[in-house]
Amino acid sequence: MNIRYFEKDRIFKIDTDHVSYVMAVMDDQQFLEHVYFGRRLGDSDLRYLLRHQEPPFLASQNPGDRGKVLLVMQHELPGELTGDHREGAVTVRTQAGHTALQPYYVSHRIYRGKESLPGLPATFGSEEGTMSLEITLEDPVIHVRFLLTYSVFEDTDAVMRSMRIINDGGQPVRVEKALSLSTDMGCADGDQRPWRLLTLDGMWVRERHMNYREIGYGFQGVSSNRGETSHQEQPFLGLVSPSATQHAGEVYGFHLIYSGNFRGQVERDAYDALRVTLGINPDRFSFVLQPGESFQAPEGVMVYSREGLGGMTHTFHDLYRNHLIRGIWRDKKRPVLINNWEATYFDFDNEKLLAIAREAKECGIEMLVMDDGWFGKRDLDVSGLGDWVVNENKIRGGLKKLVDEVNALGLKFGIWFEPEMISPDSDLYRAHPDWAIRVPDREPCQMRNQYVLDLSRKEVRDTVYDMVAAVLRSANIEYLKWDMNRTLTDFGSAALGAENQDELCHRYCLGLYEMQDRLTRDFPHILFENCSGGGARFDPGMLYYSPQIWCSDDMDPVERLMIQEGTSLLYPLSTMGAHVCVVPNHVVGRVTSFATRANVALAGTFGYELDITKISEEERAAIPNQVALYHKYNDLIRRGDYYRIASYRENHLYDCYEVVSKDRTEALITYVQVLNVPDDRSRILRIPGLDPDREYAVTVEHTGFTAPEEDRTVTLPVGPRARMRGDALMYAGLPMPDFRGDFRSALIHLEEV
Ligand code: GLA
Repeated sequence: MNIRYFEKDRIFKIDTDHVSYVMAVMDDQQFLEHVYFGRRLGDSDLRYLLRHQEPPFLASQNPGDRGKVLLVMQHELPGELTGDHREGAVTVRTQAGHTALQPYYVSHRIYRGKESLPGLPATFGSEEGTMSLEITLEDPVIHVRFLLTYSVFEDTDAVMRSMRIINDGGQPVRVEKALSLSTDMGCADGDQRPWRLLTLDGMWVRERHMNYREIGYGFQGVSSNRGETSHQEQPFLGLVSPSATQHAGEVYGFHLIYSGNFRGQVERDAYDALRVTLGINPDRFSFVLQPGESFQAPEGVMVYSREGLGGMTHTFHDLYRNHLIRGIWRDKKRPVLINNWEATYFDFDNEKLLAIAREAKECGIEMLVMDDGWFGKRDLDVSGLGDWVVNENKIRGGLKKLVDEVNALGLKFGIWFEPEMISPDSDLYRAHPDWAIRVPDREPCQMRNQYVLDLSRKEVRDTVYDMVAAVLRSANIEYLKWDMNRTLTDFGSAALGAENQDELCHRYCLGLYEMQDRLTRDFPHILFENCSGGGARFDPGMLYYSPQIWCSDDMDPVERLMIQEGTSLLYPLSTMGAHVCVVPNHVVGRVTSFATRANVALAGTFGYELDITKISEEERAAIPNQVALYHKYNDLIRRGDYYRIASYRENHLYDCYEVVSKDRTEALITYVQVLNVPDDRSRILRIPGLDPDREYAVTVEHTGFTAPEEDRTVTLPVGPRARMRGDALMYAGLPMPDFRGDFRSALIHLEEV
C-alpha cells in the first residue's frame, strides 16, 4: 500500500499489493485526468496513456479547440456542459440558473489513516494500515470546491473514493448531481474482448440474481428511486471479461456504500471508451448549499481482480469484514435462533411463543425471536405501526414477564420492529398525520396498508427512537430485527420548504443512519439485523450498523441457491440472514428435505422459521445435529474464503460452493443436486483454494434427502474416508456423491492430515 505524488510528471499513484490507480493533472489546464486503474504497475511515467494527447480527427484545425480535447479526455471529476458530452459526475446550479462547471486541481494532501464521513457509513482502518489522498479541485468562476478522497488499506486491494462539495462563493448554489464514482476506461479487456456488464437484479422473494449483458452504445445500468436500495437492483456494477472465470481473468466491481436512491451507469461513447458512474440517483435529488455549507456524497468502492469473479469476491468480503462492519458481534458466532413469523404470522400469544421456546430449547436452539404483531393494535397488517407499546392482550403480563420466562428456559430473546412506518390506523397517526411522507392535497399511496414516516424530521426520529429504546430497556432483549416493508412514494415533507423538497430522500437516509447509529451506541450488546421486506436493504450502508441482514423472504433452498449466489458475490457469508423453513415452502410451494434446507441455510447466519411444535418428530430429532454442525463449522464459514464451484443458475442441475480456511488446512463444500439426470458422470468438480502439496481427509459430513424412508448412507465415489492430495482435488477434481433423486445435498469436509 502506498500513495504518492510525482511532482515532475504531476502524477498521483495509488498502489495496493496488486492494483494501481493513477491520475494526472493536465498540463495546460488544471483538469484532473484519470490515467489508469488495473493490475499493479511500476513507477514509470504513464502520461502517454492520456487520450487527449491524440485528439480525434475533426474538421477544425484550431489548435486551441478545447472541445476536441474534452470529447475524449479521461476525466476524474467530469463537470457539466464544458465540451465533454458524456455523463457528468457533478452538477451545481447557480442562482442565475447555470450549470457549467470546470473543477480545476488546486492542491492535495496525502496522510496516514482515513477520516470518517459526517453522518454517513464508510470504511475505516488503523492509522498504520490505511493511507488517504485528498485532492482539492475548484471551479474558479463559481467558487465551489470539491474534495475527492481516495483511501486504501494494507490488507485489501480495494480503492475507496468519496466526495465533499463546499460552497465557497457568496451565493447559494444547488447541487443537482453528486456521483461518488466516475471512472473512464476502455471498452475491452486485455485480449481486446468487450467487457460484459454484470448486475444483481430481482424482485421480492427473488433478490440479487446475477445477470450479464452486452455493453451497447449509450447508457446502461442500475438504479433505485424507491427511497431504499430495493429488491429490484443493487448499487453495483461489474465489468467482466468474456474470458473471465471464477478463478481467472479480469473483473472490475464498483459498489456504493449507501442505502437510498442510487444510479449506476456504464456509458459507451462513439470512441469506444466507457465511463462508469455510480452515486446518489440524481432523479429526485438536489441539495441547496448556502455560502460556507458543504455536501458529503457517500463512499464508493472500486475493485479490480485478475483472478476472476472469485478474486473480486475475496476483496469485497475481506474489505467488508475488516473495514466496514463494526460492533461486538462482527467476529462472533451468532446464536441459533427460531423466528415465529412463518410459524404463526400475527396469530400468537405468550403461550404459543413459550411452547415454541420450550421445544426449541430441547433441540439446542439458542434464541427466540418474536416477529411482527406484538405491539399496538396489530392482529393483521392493517394497523398498529407506530404504536410501539406491547399488546397485553397477546403478551399477557407484559414483555418483561415473557422475556424472563424465555430466559428461564435458557434461551435469549429477540424482537422485531418497523420503526420507519406508520399505519393510518394508529394512535401515532391520529396524533401526527403530517409525520407521514406525503404531498399536500393528494391522497398518499398506501402499501401494505401503511405510510412512511418522515425521518428527515428530528422530532419524528426522536419520538420513534424513544419508543423503541423504552421497549429495549424494559426487558432483557438481545437481538433486534429492524424491518422496512414498503418503498417511499409521494415525496413531500411538511418540514421542508419548496426549494428543499428534493432533499427529502437523502435526508431520509441520513435520518435512518442517525437512528441506527444511536441505537448501536446505546445498545452495543444487542445483535442487530437489518431487513426490508426480505432483502431490499441488503447494501453496504446497512452493514456499517448491523453485522447481518435478512437476505430474502424466500427460504426455499432452491430459490435460495440463486439468491445466495448473487448476494455472496459481494457480501460475506457472516452477513447473510438464512433460516430453515417449513414445507411446502410458503412462497413457491416446493417440498424439499429438512436436511437440504439446513445445508443451504448453514451458508448464512442460520436459524429456523417454522412452528417447531408442529413439524414431524423426525425433523425435530434432526435439529440438534444441525445445530451441532452450525457450531462446528460456523467459524470457518464466517472467516474463510468463499469459492463458487458450480452454479445451478447456469447449469439448471446442481450448485456447489466452498469455504476454505485462510490457512488452507480445512474446507467445507456444499453440493446441492437440484435435478437428477441418469448416470451423469460429469460431476467431477475441481476444488479450488487448497494447498496442492498437502493431503486432505475427505468425508461426507451431512446429507439431505427427500423422503425419510430412503437410505441415507452416501459415500463419495472416492470412498468413505478418502485421503487425497490438494493437487488431485484442485486439478483433477472430486466426483460428487451419486444421488438418486432431486433436491439432494451434501456437506463435504476436507481436513489436512
Ligand atoms: C417482512 C420481513 C419478514 C417478516 C414480515 C413481518 O416481510 O421480511 O421476515 O418480518 O415483514 O411483517
